[in-house]
Amino acid sequence: MNFRISQEVGTDLDVAEVAEVYRASGLGARRPIEDSERFAAMVRNANLVVCCRDAGKLIGIARCVSDYSYATYLSDIAVVADHQRSGIGKALIAAVGQAAPAAKIVLLSAPAATEYYPHLGFIRHESAWLLNP
Ligand SMILES: CC(C)(COP(=O)(O)OP(=O)(O)OC[C@H]1O[C@@H](n2cnc3c(N)ncnc32)[C@H](O)[C@@H]1OP(=O)(O)O)[C@@H](O)C(=O)NCCC(=O)NCCS
Repeated sequence: MNFRISQEVGTDLDVAEVAEVYRASGLGARRPIEDSERFAAMVRNANLVVCCRDAGKLIGIARCVSDYSYATYLSDIAVVADHQRSGIGKALIAAVGQAAPAAKIVLLSAPAATEYYPHLGFIRHESAWLLNP
């Protein structure tokens, strides 16, 4: 496989192309990809974005907000279905870690991925709390 994993700038991304990766991964069912204004803000305001491209085509993405010092919130990770389980998700998370090496990575798992994160060394945190808007 000849995939390229690299950090990219959210404001430079093609929002429609990102939405297509969410859709083709299955994550689109759990994110507001149909609300184009909100989804564009999610992409543009993320300050740590790692992409996987195959011959230029976006096939995976990790979208984060990081202070690059203490914590990186990994909001979304998505790999298109026909490329899943080929190491791309793991490589995206490794690149997120390398981009902000002092920061711990924090995330909320989708139900389908609850067994995935412990597989990669993540530990469950018993005192996570949410305050919805
Ligand atoms: C979850 C997701 C990002 C994983 O990416 P991926 O590229 O398919 O996973 P990888 O190939 O990097 O897998 C790394 C390892 O985890 C394992 N794995 C992959 N998906 C798994 C799952 N859902 N449950 C448990 N283990 C999983 C792989 O078998 C592999 O194991 P190995 O290192 O022992 O060979 C991807 O499947 C996806 O986009 N899913 C749909 C969207 C989603 O649910 N995103 C998570 C939002 S919180």
